[in-house]
Amino acid sequence: MDKLLIRGGRQLNGTVTVSGAKNAALPELCATLLTPEPVKLLNVPRLQDVATMRKLLGHMGVQTQTHGERGGMSFSAAGPITPEAPYELVKTMRASVLVLGPLLARFGHARVSLPGGCAIGSRPVDQHIKGLTAMGAEIAVEHGYMVAKLAAGRTRLKGARIATDMVTVTGTENFMMAAVLAEGETILENAAQEPEIPDLAEMLIQMGARIEGHGTSRIVIQGVDALHGCTHRVVADRIEAGTFLCAVAAAGGDVVVQHARIEHLEAVVEKLRDAGVTVTKVPDGIRVQSGGAAQLKAQHFRTTEYPGFPTDMQAQFMALNTVAKGSSLVTETIFENRFMHVNELVRLGANIQIDGKVAMVEGVRVLSGATVMATDMRASASLVIAGLVAEGETLVDRIYHLDRGYDQMETKLRGLGADIERVKS
Ligand code: EPU
Repeated sequence: MDKLLIRGGRQLNGTVTVSGAKNAALPELCATLLTPEPVKLLNVPRLQDVATMRKLLGHMGVQTQTHGERGGMSFSAAGPITPEAPYELVKTMRASVLVLGPLLARFGHARVSLPGGCAIGSRPVDQHIKGLTAMGAEIAVEHGYMVAKLAAGRTRLKGARIATDMVTVTGTENFMMAAVLAEGETILENAAQEPEIPDLAEMLIQMGARIEGHGTSRIVIQGVDALHGCTHRVVADRIEAGTFLCAVAAAGGDVVVQHARIEHLEAVVEKLRDAGVTVTKVPDGIRVQSGGAAQLKAQHFRTTEYPGFPTDMQAQFMALNTVAKGSSLVTETIFENRFMHVNELVRLGANIQIDGKVAMVEGVRVLSGATVMATDMRASASLVIAGLVAEGETLVDRIYHLDRGYDQMETKLRGLGADIERVKS
């Protein structure tokens, strides 16, 4: 298992380029199942999760190949498709559940493993099942698999009004991909508004789908008989961008985060500015300037759905709070167990207490390097940020979590002047 060795204390300077968004690329790879015509995606990030999704599509019979420009990938679901997502692949990546909507929409049946629990919380898929059932699917759970087919007498899914109990990102995406080929109108109430949703909608519209309201909490879709191929560029990864903003804020320096879209990061940018960091919009990017930990003021924040503060940025911003002046309350409202980085940050000298959904962080003057263990993707990023500011050497173990969701994080940080290297084992 690879590790990252970081010698802290260096400022970050220069330009770093953000890759395509993981959480847009994953549903968009699944959307290629919706048509027999070739689909081309550009700016696909080089990540373990993308490799896993590609493997899953390949297992089902989708032909995939990389090409040309870095991040270019083409897909053809023209041949015979086996609409089955096996446990071996689904267990490593929950986003595999995103094949359910497109498979039902185009083939009328699917067998997809239940994803099971996950380090950050129980993460059920009851809403996915409820919504697709409203669209005319019958879904039974058998031997750990969701076995889905069309209700008797139906030849395709039907439009429906779906109001989920909570805002769900992949749920909204599954319903969108199901509804584009369903008969009639689907209305998604309480839809997720994360920028990955309009990005997927734009791809589907290019394929011939009729969608309105994407980017709001009410999406209306008129089903069409068939979709065609398209070329689509994956939107820039706002969480990767936000991670670099926090890294520079904590370590100090002056960096342009290229391709980052400030309008996708408003809640994070506002907190960074309140913390004393200068964040400005520049052409095709965001510039971040910080005097480093000694100049930072701790910030309270609470995670909520977009456009609120993203749960996927909670761990990284908490790392910054550990070395900022003052105390802060960090409240996690989306996942019940997303504080696993806390004990590792404490090993680096942070002062944090957890009380249910709230972490109380008392800023300390310095962190001191130690060996720490990554527990999930964003927790790993938070430990890397802490390592960049800690005195001495920090060894972050189990970085396969980081590799699932960050495209060459250590190479990009090294380009900014960080002393960081991958240790192969
Ligand atoms: N939920 C249910 N039932 C459902 C669906 C969701 O109870 O059927 C609950 C979840 O357990 C959670 C809340 O609703 O408490 C919101 O979960 P959501 O469905 O929105 O999460 P997700 O779609 O599984 C995506 C991202 C996550 C990100 C969350 C929240 C992808 C592939 N994943 O997950 O990304 O944290 O939305 O924004 O888009 C990450 O990138 O590190 C990551 C975990």
